[in-house]
Amino acid sequence: MNRALPVIAILVAALLLAVACKREETASPEPSPFAATPYQLVLPSNLPPMEIPEDNPLTVEGVALGRFLFYEERLSGDNGMSCATCHQPGLSFTDGKAVSKGIDSIAGTRSAMPLINLGYSRHFFWDGRAPSLEAQVLQPVTNPIEMHETWPNVVGKLQADAVYPQLFARAFGTTQVDSLLAAKAMAQFIRTMVSGNSPFDKYRRGEGLISPDAQMGFTLFKLEGGAPGEMIPVAGSTPVVGQGGADCFHCHVADANLFTDDLFHNNGLDSSPGDPGRGAVTNDPADLAKFKTPTLRNIMVTAPYMHDGRFATIDEVLDHYNAGGHASPTVDPFMKFTSPDMELGLTPAKREQIKAFLHTLTDEEFLNNPAFQDPGPPHL
Ligand code: HEC
Ligand code: HEC
Repeated sequence: MNRALPVIAILVAALLLAVACKREETASPEPSPFAATPYQLVLPSNLPPMEIPEDNPLTVEGVALGRFLFYEERLSGDNGMSCATCHQPGLSFTDGKAVSKGIDSIAGTRSAMPLINLGYSRHFFWDGRAPSLEAQVLQPVTNPIEMHETWPNVVGKLQADAVYPQLFARAFGTTQVDSLLAAKAMAQFIRTMVSGNSPFDKYRRGEGLISPDAQMGFTLFKLEGGAPGEMIPVAGSTPVVGQGGADCFHCHVADANLFTDDLFHNNGLDSSPGDPGRGAVTNDPADLAKFKTPTLRNIMVTAPYMHDGRFATIDEVLDHYNAGGHASPTVDPFMKFTSPDMELGLTPAKREQIKAFLHTLTDEEFLNNPAFQDPGPPHL
């Protein structure tokens, strides 16, 4: 008997193995891992490559969900306000107001920012308090003077919808609606908002011409201010030689065709600032009244201007820069003409040329892009 035991054990083991193999043969194939369709973001050749976060690749389904959410009024406390209320595509995703009002009709203190080429940006909001687009898009929903809603409420509303759970499944492989996935989807949609087909872009790529005045305006944009040959002091640095230009390029950097350095500057709006700007984020007095340099793309359709919408027209903006702005402890060294006896020195003719150049940054294809418009109620 004792000798037979190992034999029986081997037989049993062989039988089990056979059954297991059989099972494997007949078992239905593993469900294929979830896979959304990669979204091919086509960037104009005069724009740099865009870094997409590894944990949130662009997918067709993710971008589509993000677009529905961007136009979704159930993201707000009264179900009447969407992101697009303040970020309208035809206005380069601004609202055309000096400062925005939320659902309770309480006016904020800041102007809605244009949403253009934000896939290149590393700081979000005028004060840069959000370090990523994914982090940024969560904030307007809970902001009491914007959409004034809670994310648990939003998740509940979307989960109860007939379509959203399926849209989340297509984009992220789960019917479980979740604020972080919603943020990922909206961030994906915003990364597709690329502007690079303005007359200026076509000119840069050798595909079209802009007027001689606009060309001259672009040249002025990239030249130092002050009378040609004049030594212009720069705080904390060596003086520069005046070139009779408009001195815009230091901050609205033109090299990569983005017209921003994605950094924070005090461009001399006030001698004693009301809004602490970047300073309230870093708690560093050296950052007081510094704001994110906005892009100048589509600038002719995004009036009024500055973080508080104080300038109604581009002429008022040029008046400000031409007069040199106000001195203050944190004013940017590149604002070189703040002392009362100095000014940038733009003649009326030069101002017209700068405006002609700024006009060439209006990208009609971007403003009217069908892929950015309201997709209507959510559908598969
Ligand atoms: C009530 C108007 C309003 C609504 C609604 C609104 N925004 Fe904004 N948005 C603003 C204002 C004002 C700012 C600047 C706020 C600041 O700097 O403190 C801003 C800034 C932004 C920025 C930063 C852009 C940059 O260059 O840094 C992004 C991105 C953005 N909003 C996306 C959204 C999304 C997505 C939604 C919907 C979830 C939304 N906004 C809803 C008014 C609004
Ligand atoms: C020292 C850096 C700096 C220089 C130089 C500079 N800007 Fe600015 N610009 C900024 C910053 C920062 C803001 C946002 C300031 C704010 O809202 O508080 C801004 C805002 C603007 C705005 C408003 C944008 C909007 O969306 O509201 C326009 C237009 C503009 N600048 C045009 C120009 C022109 C034209 C020149 C050259 C004559 C110029 N800038 C020179 C940094 C600069």
